[in-house]
Amino acid sequence: MRLSNHVSIITGGANGIGFEAARTFAEEGASVVIADYNEEVGAERVASLREEGLEVTFIVVDVSSHESAAQMVAKAVSIYGKVDSLINNAGITDDAMLKKMTTEQFRRVIDVNLIGVFNCTQAVLPTMTEAGKGKIVNTASVSGAYGNIGQTNYAAAKAGVIGMTKTWAKELGRKGINVNAVAPGFTETAMVESVPKELVQQLKSQIPLQRLGKPKDVAYAYLFLCSRESDYVHGHVLHVDGGIVM
Ligand code: CAA
Ligand code: NAI
Repeated sequence: MRLSNHVSIITGGANGIGFEAARTFAEEGASVVIADYNEEVGAERVASLREEGLEVTFIVVDVSSHESAAQMVAKAVSIYGKVDSLINNAGITDDAMLKKMTTEQFRRVIDVNLIGVFNCTQAVLPTMTEAGKGKIVNTASVSGAYGNIGQTNYAAAKAGVIGMTKTWAKELGRKGINVNAVAPGFTETAMVESVPKELVQQLKSQIPLQRLGKPKDVAYAYLFLCSRESDYVHGHVLHVDGGIVM
C-alpha cells in the first residue's frame, strides 16, 4: 500500500480521470474525498467504490467559488482530520476559434480551470502548513504546454496552471509542501468525445505511441506525485501524453 494513512482530495473526481484516480488512490490505502459539482454522479460513484470496500466520501463543490472550495476543504478536515494531498483535477472545455469565442466563454473556462485551482489550493494551505507537509498536484494539459487550435481559453488556463505550479513550488517548498503538475495528452474521457472524429484520427497519427491516453495512465502519474517516492520531485510538469510534447 503506497498511500496508507493518507487523505486525498480529488476535485472533479466524479468522472473520467478524477474517478480513475479516486479508485487507484483508495486501492493504495488512501481515504479519498471526491469533490465535484455533479452530486448525482458523484454519489453513485462513491456508492460503487464503497461496495468494493474502499474508503471514499463525496463532497459537493464548485471549484470556481472561493467560498465553496473553503467549505469543501473544511468538511474534508472535519471528516478525516487532515489532508495529505490535493489533486486539482476538475476542468471543463468550451472550445471555439478565436474569432468566434465570446468573453463569457473565455471567462467560464478561466474561472473553473485556473481560478478553481487557486481557490482549492488556498483553501487547503492552512491545514498542510500546520502539518508541515503535503502534496499538491495540478492538472495542466498538452494544450497549455504547446497550444491547441480552438482552445484559446483552455490553453490560457492550463498555461497559467503551469505558472502557478512553479510559483507555488518556490513559495511552499520550505513549508514541506511538494507542488507539481501533470500535463495529460488527449485522454479517453467525455472531454475528448466533443472533438470531431476525423480530428481524433489525425491526432492519433501524431502521437509517437499511436494511441490516446487512458484515465489510468494519468491516475498513475497522480499516484507517483502523491507517494513518498516523489518526495524530491518539485515544481515539475510531468507529461503523460504518449510523447506528443517532447
Ligand atoms: N488542425 C487543423 N485544422 C483544424 C483543426 C486542427 N486541430 N481544427 C480546426 N481546423 C480547421 C478546420 O478543418 C476548418 O478548416 P476549413 O475552414 O478549411 O474547412 C477550420 O479550421 C475551421 O474549423 P471548424 O469548421 O471545425 O470550425 P468551427 O467553428 O465549426 O469549430 C472548433 C471550431 C469548435 C474549435 C472545432 O474545430 C473543434 O471542436 N475542434 C477541436 C478542438 C480540440 O481539439 N479540443 C480539445 C478537447 S479535449 C481537451 O481539451 C483535453 C486536452 O487537454 C487536450
Ligand atoms: P471529465 O469531463 O471526464 O471530468 C471532469 C470532472 O470535473 C467532472 O466530474 C465535472 O463534474 C467536474 N467539474 C467540472 N467543473 C467543475 C467545478 N466547477 N467544480 C467541481 N467539479 C467540476 O474530464 P477529464 O477528461 O477527466 O478531465 C480531468 C482533468 O484533466 C481536467 O482538468 C482536464 O482539463 C484535464 N485534461 C484532460 C485531458 C483529456 O484529454 N481528457 C487532456 C489533458 C488534460
